[in-house]
Amino acid sequence: MSDEFDVVDLIRAKRDGRSLPAAAIDWLIAAYTGGRVAEEQMSAYLMAVVWRGMSPDELARWTTAMIASGDRLDLADVGRPTVDKHSTGGVGDKVSLVLVPLVAACGVAVPQLSGRGLGHTGGTLDKMESIPGWRADLPVDRMRRQLADIGAVICAAGAGLVPADRRLYALRDVTGTVESIPLIASSIMSKKIAEGTSALVLDVKVGTGAFMSSPEAARELARTMVGLGAAAGVRTEALLTAMDHPLGRTAGNALEVTEAVDALRGGGPADLVEVTVALARLMVGLAAELTGRPASDLRDPAEVLAAGGAYPVWRAMVEAQGGDPDAELPLAPTVETLPAPASGFLTRLDARGVGSAAWRLGAGRARKEDAVSATAGVRWLAGIGDPVQAGEPLLELHTDDPATLPRARAALADAVEIGPRPAPARPLVLERIQA
Ligand code: URA
Repeated sequence: MSDEFDVVDLIRAKRDGRSLPAAAIDWLIAAYTGGRVAEEQMSAYLMAVVWRGMSPDELARWTTAMIASGDRLDLADVGRPTVDKHSTGGVGDKVSLVLVPLVAACGVAVPQLSGRGLGHTGGTLDKMESIPGWRADLPVDRMRRQLADIGAVICAAGAGLVPADRRLYALRDVTGTVESIPLIASSIMSKKIAEGTSALVLDVKVGTGAFMSSPEAARELARTMVGLGAAAGVRTEALLTAMDHPLGRTAGNALEVTEAVDALRGGGPADLVEVTVALARLMVGLAAELTGRPASDLRDPAEVLAAGGAYPVWRAMVEAQGGDPDAELPLAPTVETLPAPASGFLTRLDARGVGSAAWRLGAGRARKEDAVSATAGVRWLAGIGDPVQAGEPLLELHTDDPATLPRARAALADAVEIGPRPAPARPLVLERIQA
């Protein structure tokens, strides 16, 4: 490609708040991924986007150009409607582990290409990798076959899927340019569109443990992503869900798998079940729309989950990727218990504090090449609204390395509040955003 644009002119244009024409955006992404735009130049451009934003047309083109940097999967021959879910990430968010087999048990194919966790929220692949033998890497033909046979796949996105995002995300991570709605939306949606799903449901978390702490910002991110999906012909809807308190009773890789399996067998914590069923109902509804069937033709996710009907799909999905669904999951050699500081009712358990503690215990990574511990994490023995007694065990800190305990305790120092009466129940599913 001849260099028809001067990158410094494009940086200046964005710095001064102007929109780039489509050809300039195509050029910029292609020239960056081709190594003809330097890292410092793209860093400057991204910082200008953080301040100036992108127009809707620019953003749609930026996303298309990112997709064009790599392969686009075609899942048309899977034999069932394909609907995926993406979560913007929360603490204790093991929803995918339950949702993917659940929606498959309702007759829909779920092609979940996932990433690894960075920062205080855990990654789905890290959780699945705590199952002995389970492999995240699947060649595309194996992934397609598994989708056709079982209807459920959770695997790593291959290197050919949106290579521009791999480079841009790594650069954003070290240049303070992650926090930008157009950059987040294009990063997430380019990967989901390229993976070939026909429809998509987004779980946009709101609260202290989420990327977006305010409902306004979460709503804007959700609307932006729903619009990008619609522009690319992928039917997309979003739910805003609360993330002030962590989900379920555990945060940490193997701990969360155990909790997800409880839910798959018809038990599990009520908040996890509520969010999972709300997302599953949207996914099944979109699948019905795609096939022109009435939604009542498909099975109701709440009934399927309560009856343990998703569990056989989970087992098949784990086995198909080399995992042993009956294997004992690893346990941490050190478990420290922290007592409730007062008697009363648990009114607050701060999601960010719990996520940071789990991360400091070894459950998460600071850099993408770091290893994570399968066993590290936090378990809370009471849920919001439950009565607690001063001095009785409230939190468990699980770790392979006792040296991590003081910093984990510090992360939890202000995370717990106990009141004289239960705080009023707050809804978990806050809002639905449609195109
Ligand atoms: N997740 C992504 O994939 N990209 C972002 O920019 C933020 C979260």
